[in-house]
Amino acid sequence: MSYYVTTPIYYVNSTPHIGHAYTTIAADILARHFRQRGEETFFLTGVDEHASKVARVAAEQGLAPKEYADRIVSSWQEVPRRLDATNDFFIRTTDDGHKAFVQDFLQRMYDAGDVYQDTYAGLYCVGCEEFKSEAELVDGKCPLHDIEPEWIEEKNWFFRLSAYQERLLALYDERREFVLPGFRYNEARSFIAGGLQDFSISRAGQPWGVSIPWDPNQVAYVWADALVNYLSALTYARPGEDLRERFWPSARHLIGKDIIRFHCVYWPAMLLSAGYDVPHQVFVHGFLLLDERKISKSLGNVVDPLDLIDLYGADAVRFWSARAVSFGQDGSVSIESLHERYERELANDLGNLVSRTTAMISRFLAGDVLVGATDGSPIRALVDGLGGDLAARFDQYDLTGALERIWEVVRGLNRHVETRAPWKLADDVGRRDELERTLYDLADGIRVVAVALASYLPQTSARILEALNCDPRDIEWERVAYGLTPALTGIAPASPLFPRIDAPTTAA
Ligand code: MSP
Repeated sequence: MSYYVTTPIYYVNSTPHIGHAYTTIAADILARHFRQRGEETFFLTGVDEHASKVARVAAEQGLAPKEYADRIVSSWQEVPRRLDATNDFFIRTTDDGHKAFVQDFLQRMYDAGDVYQDTYAGLYCVGCEEFKSEAELVDGKCPLHDIEPEWIEEKNWFFRLSAYQERLLALYDERREFVLPGFRYNEARSFIAGGLQDFSISRAGQPWGVSIPWDPNQVAYVWADALVNYLSALTYARPGEDLRERFWPSARHLIGKDIIRFHCVYWPAMLLSAGYDVPHQVFVHGFLLLDERKISKSLGNVVDPLDLIDLYGADAVRFWSARAVSFGQDGSVSIESLHERYERELANDLGNLVSRTTAMISRFLAGDVLVGATDGSPIRALVDGLGGDLAARFDQYDLTGALERIWEVVRGLNRHVETRAPWKLADDVGRRDELERTLYDLADGIRVVAVALASYLPQTSARILEALNCDPRDIEWERVAYGLTPALTGIAPASPLFPRIDAPTTAA
């Protein structure tokens, strides 16, 4: 099966922060990894433009919503670009291809008899773009956005979600890994089992959105429009091609825990109604917390990912995102922790290993290592089974565990330097063969690490392979194996991979 990975499409009511970059980084690590495994891969990200809060911000700035969106979209496109994300397409929900597809999709739901008209009255949180029940509020406010919801009463088109309860339960029972991690599966399933209420898929009295095909006085509710992006993009991302045949339903949706209900309940029901297969999987990750609060614009504690990239480089930000918090869990982050990991793990553990090894090959062997792999090599034992182990973790979205497993190898290589002490071997002409084998093993171990790390640290991986005179494109997953480095010639000391950076006083 092909591998189609998506991020949520981000609201453009403000500029991106590190929480948004987080999901994009995770999706890119997965996409790059599965490409290394030779899978046919498609990676989609983009922006969600037809939200009420977008229209509001535009009005505050005296702009038409589309004009506002056209101005701010470049800052959203810049994030994946600066992160070295390899998204195959960047969707905007104002794309003509998307809008036309949404209309067709809603029409199919209507034709299936799942849509009816009714009056809705309730409390609406514009931050969530969702109606809230009294029970969900804390002191009368939305706990996620710390704002009071507004009373809205209007005649809308409703989707008969309640009719899908049994089918959704059957889907969940049949596919125990439809939602991961397991505790999120349980959360979604018990929400369904608790009974489903129909929801409004249209909004009256506001022109910003995709118009409802059978009722042009209304526009699609932002979520009924946004979710469809995962399918619509496949129909027009490559002009003249319909990618649905190759990539639907192999979709893996990565989402934050705030939008579980939409992706794990509404979306599969909408797909069933419109006559499509449901996606392969939804993976739910936690929130990044700064000072114990969710990083979010409305809470005013944002960290700009571009500032961090300017200071530390894309690879370090990618590394920290995968490493600092176990992917799937909530976790507190700080800029100090990024700095600390940069110095200790990237500069010392990895950077020094590469510098020392290349420097020793240059100095003790004039840059040439002519011996190759040896049977009893401890490095063979160290990396044995690594490729399979890592692949199994990637299959389960365990980005943090896979990275830790790679770091075990990095630490093992550093220990090998210390125990074999090549500088001592170099003092003894009788031990030349041992010296060569030790340095071959270190170089090959580093090559294995570079291939295994390519999806996390694409720039660093390429620089390591180049320092070993290997082709930086040779990162097929089978190459995560001992002994594939050819004889090394003309190795020069590598320049530092992670130069010293002064600890920031105010990086944010
Ligand atoms: N537009 C909707 C999604 C529609 S998808 C069909 C939306 N946008 S959002 O911009 O508010 O947030 C989208 C996602 O950004 C979250 O689900 C999550 O993936 C990511 N994050 C935003 N803040 C985050 C943190 N503080 N921590 C981790 N991820 C966070 O919801």
